[in-house]
Amino acid sequence: MAPMPTIRSITPGDFPACARICYEAFGSLQDRHGVERDFDSVQTAEMVIGMFGTRPDFAGFVALDDDGRTILGSNFLQFSDEVAGVGPITVDPSAQARGVGRSLMRAVMDEAARRGIKQVRLQQEAINTTSLSLYAKLGFDWREACALVRLEPAERDLEGTRPVSERDLPAIDELSRRHFHASRVNEAAGYLRIGLPGFVLSRGGRDVGYYFPSFLGHGFAETPEDLAALAAHAAKHAPPQFRKTIVPLGQHGLHRGVMARGGRAIKLFNYMTTGAYRAPVGAWIPSIGM
Ligand SMILES: CC(C)(COP(=O)(O)OP(=O)(O)OC[C@H]1O[C@@H](n2cnc3c(N)ncnc32)[C@H](O)[C@@H]1OP(=O)(O)O)[C@@H](O)C(=O)NCCC(=O)NCCS
Repeated sequence: MAPMPTIRSITPGDFPACARICYEAFGSLQDRHGVERDFDSVQTAEMVIGMFGTRPDFAGFVALDDDGRTILGSNFLQFSDEVAGVGPITVDPSAQARGVGRSLMRAVMDEAARRGIKQVRLQQEAINTTSLSLYAKLGFDWREACALVRLEPAERDLEGTRPVSERDLPAIDELSRRHFHASRVNEAAGYLRIGLPGFVLSRGGRDVGYYFPSFLGHGFAETPEDLAALAAHAAKHAPPQFRKTIVPLGQHGLHRGVMARGGRAIKLFNYMTTGAYRAPVGAWIPSIGM
């Protein structure tokens, strides 16, 4: 059996090596399956790793080789709110299938336990049978099949929307508790800090939904039609790299609504969770983490 890798917290000096591994691990998997790459360059991977590695509501870990220096992979836990998210987890292709990924998953789950977090969620890259098996062995249950969809921007603005600002955080707190059974208000505040263009939808003076684009974003609405329309509206106001969203396929109306607006499926994910789970209610769009 291969020796267990050493795990420690990520530091800024690790970002370039982790970004290269992230780029190569996803790139080689996705090229092998003919699936569009998540990361178009090492620089994009470094931007994401750098952001996750420095935010106070994320914990990042690296796995080290026997020499105690060479980085073999990294993983992240997002604990902005009550439900935590995992990823991206990546292991150097030359070091895969010898227990590094398992150690990195254990590190984030131990961190969640240490913080008293009772629910952890993730989106599993469906083409990766290794991660599917690993997560199931570590206690994650399959909940939903999802599609990553490229959004076509709406031609016209959706009536009743306003850009999310700090003032909307109480409404987001309320809406996320109602639909997700847990607040996602700190996560939304984090989107505002990085400039993700989110929108709230009001009908008859009542806030009925909100949505942030890209696979980092998420959203809820009372009806699938409203959420599909909100997503297309947000895409109209978002730069091209943010015009992607994750659609749970069990929500038939939402899926059809997104497709009817010109959405193009890119690939599939499996939504997996540990801890107590109550399916979200109404129309919902998960983030890449939860
Ligand atoms: C996913 C990833 C991080 C796993 O890392 P790894 O170091 O290769 O994984 P490990 O060797 O620690 O663990 C793999 C486990 O899955 C098991 N496994 C692998 N393929 C399997 C299969 N087809 N069926 C059943 N079990 C399988 C292994 O036996 C092992 O289980 P064990 O720990 O009980 O022995 C790595 O494959 C990777 O970086 N992939 C590219 C990026 C990616 O897809 N990230 C995940 C996105 S969801």
